[in-house]
Amino acid sequence: MSIPHYAVLGHPVTQSLSPRIHAAFGQQTGLALTYVALDTEEIGLAATLARFAAAGGLGANVTVPDKAEAAGLAHILSPRARRAGVANTLVLRDGVWHGDNTDGSGLVRDLRDRRGLDLHDMRVLMLGAGGAAQGVAPALLDAGISQLVVANRTRSRAYDLIDRLGDTERTRACTLREITGMGEFDLIVQATSAGHDGVLPTLPDLMPRADTVCVDLNYGRAALSFMAWAHQHGVQQAFDGLGMLVEQAADAFEVWHGQRPDTEPVYAQLRMSTGRG
Ligand code: ATR
Repeated sequence: MSIPHYAVLGHPVTQSLSPRIHAAFGQQTGLALTYVALDTEEIGLAATLARFAAAGGLGANVTVPDKAEAAGLAHILSPRARRAGVANTLVLRDGVWHGDNTDGSGLVRDLRDRRGLDLHDMRVLMLGAGGAAQGVAPALLDAGISQLVVANRTRSRAYDLIDRLGDTERTRACTLREITGMGEFDLIVQATSAGHDGVLPTLPDLMPRADTVCVDLNYGRAALSFMAWAHQHGVQQAFDGLGMLVEQAADAFEVWHGQRPDTEPVYAQLRMSTGRG
């Protein structure tokens, strides 16, 4: 019998930690599997996925910039992926791709279980309205936050996101320039892709409190500028997205294999090799 075959699809993926994470989960649970990184830049997501399936692929994680297309390619979407409009996890069942989204559950697990945060009644500012923001917004609302303000460089995308969420009581949209009029925040979620270019979105006059929690959904180099901004503003708790990455991977592992691995040793090992965050 051949070894079950899994992959992360997107661009760029050469630096992705997902193959390491899933290899560690496989070892921990005693499941034999292969997990590789497949770059979609040359032939696109649809063709890469078709090739992968033809080669025996059973499940895929999908990352930037292909999460919206992944939701479109899936024949069946889980309720949370449908609500988000983006998929980061695909599983082949009965010959068709099923789409799911574990980004939101991954973020909430990281913040609540690893960091010990009580998300209930928090006022949350989300910077960005792209695939990453879409993926985590429903789970934050489900965790009981009191308000979600989505601030995006392009105004229409922020409004599109809150329209999709359908929670008019608790959601508001604005541009990055308009954040100042929106009051104070307990949690700021950095969900833009600006850090990949080593920059920070322009945040005119945004002043976090010392006890405002800051989290970047990116990890490694892409999270450095926001982490530096948070520290410069005296924020006591600022995290990168490594914890969320490991948690969303564990949730995907559970979708594929029916068991959830212990994330803590894998997180600790990656944290040691990737540095502070
Ligand atoms: P992802 O899947 O990583 O979210 P995406 O869907 O392309 O990628 O979305 C990128 C997000 O980062 C968007 O919210 C984008 O803002 P726009 O909608 O205005 O394009 C935001 N973004 C990227 N670079 C940015 C920058 N330099 N400043 C502010 N926002 C930026």
